[in-house]
Amino acid sequence: MADSQVLVDVRGLKKHFTKEKTIFGRDSDVLKAVDGVSFQIRKGETFGLVGESGSGKSTVGRCLLRLYDYTEGEVRFDGQPISKLKEKRLKPFRRRIQSIFQDPYSSLNPSLNVLELISEPMKIHGIYKGAASKEEIASLLEKVGLKREQLYRYPHEFSGGQRQRISIARALSVRPEFVVCDEPVSALDVSVQAQVVNMLEDLQAEFGLTYLFIAHDLSMVRHISDRIGVMYGGRLVEVADSDELYENPLHPYTQALLSSILEPDPRGSRERILFDRNAGRFSSLETSELREVSHGHFVADYQWISN
Ligand SMILES: Nc1ncnc2c1ncn2[C@@H]1O[C@H](COP(=O)(O)OP(=O)(O)OP(=O)(O)O)[C@@H](O)[C@H]1O
Ligand SMILES: [Mg+2]
Repeated sequence: MADSQVLVDVRGLKKHFTKEKTIFGRDSDVLKAVDGVSFQIRKGETFGLVGESGSGKSTVGRCLLRLYDYTEGEVRFDGQPISKLKEKRLKPFRRRIQSIFQDPYSSLNPSLNVLELISEPMKIHGIYKGAASKEEIASLLEKVGLKREQLYRYPHEFSGGQRQRISIARALSVRPEFVVCDEPVSALDVSVQAQVVNMLEDLQAEFGLTYLFIAHDLSMVRHISDRIGVMYGGRLVEVADSDELYENPLHPYTQALLSSILEPDPRGSRERILFDRNAGRFSSLETSELREVSHGHFVADYQWISN
């Protein structure tokens, strides 16, 4: 992939959390939420991230937003390494990289009206210019499907879907280039999910945005994503163009995920037992680095471990 096309370049990213020490003073356990993930997102594309609950998707998103420092690895944004930047040097990136999260209820300050909510990030980044900006916000409000008359309303006067539209306008008010969308419609009524996803696609085209789109709903991810990465236990096990991944999944975990035969694991373990078709029995998987098996289709090598 030519470097000029790459907006987000993630190399060997690891984020380990240290669990609290027990009262017996035993060595603390380390939870490897993200354990060596590499991928690139091209300018203007949507990169989907799927995988079960706890596989590390949100942690990847939060690392790209630099809400976390990482344990290891490097993230380059538009060619510039952002992993080690201190807050002052990070500030321009805090404008260029925005986020939309799942919960439209807790993410909006209830004491601010829509105008205040949307102008807040603009003020933080020093791009709020009085009347002109107010007009810009009113027009942005229309672009997310709300009315300019609603500028002086408060969050509690809106439905969940409308609040998510306000969050989207807030994220876009500072003219970002990249938006981390972490389950942006999962908390919404099924009837409005598609509307919001379609709107995100329209806004992407209009503003030339690049998305990381994290989701559970596999049909939704396929629809919106150009390429998709599958996460399993803190690692990427497969990356491919959207249609290719769905039509020709190569990793046993991807195959299981797509055929929706995965029941929640009763042991709560992050190491799944999957069906090994060749051996005709259930086994654990040990997966390693991604390898390109055909043009643009990457799969992690894996080994079945008999229990
Ligand atoms: N701040 C934290 N401190 C400690 N452990 C964490 C923290 N955040 C996440 N984890 C753990 O890291 C693992 C990955 O969590 P993450 O939220 O990234 O998963 P996810 O794929 O987004 O799951 P979901 O689909 O449920 O949102 C989980 O085991 C989680 O409990
Ligand atoms: Mg998550």
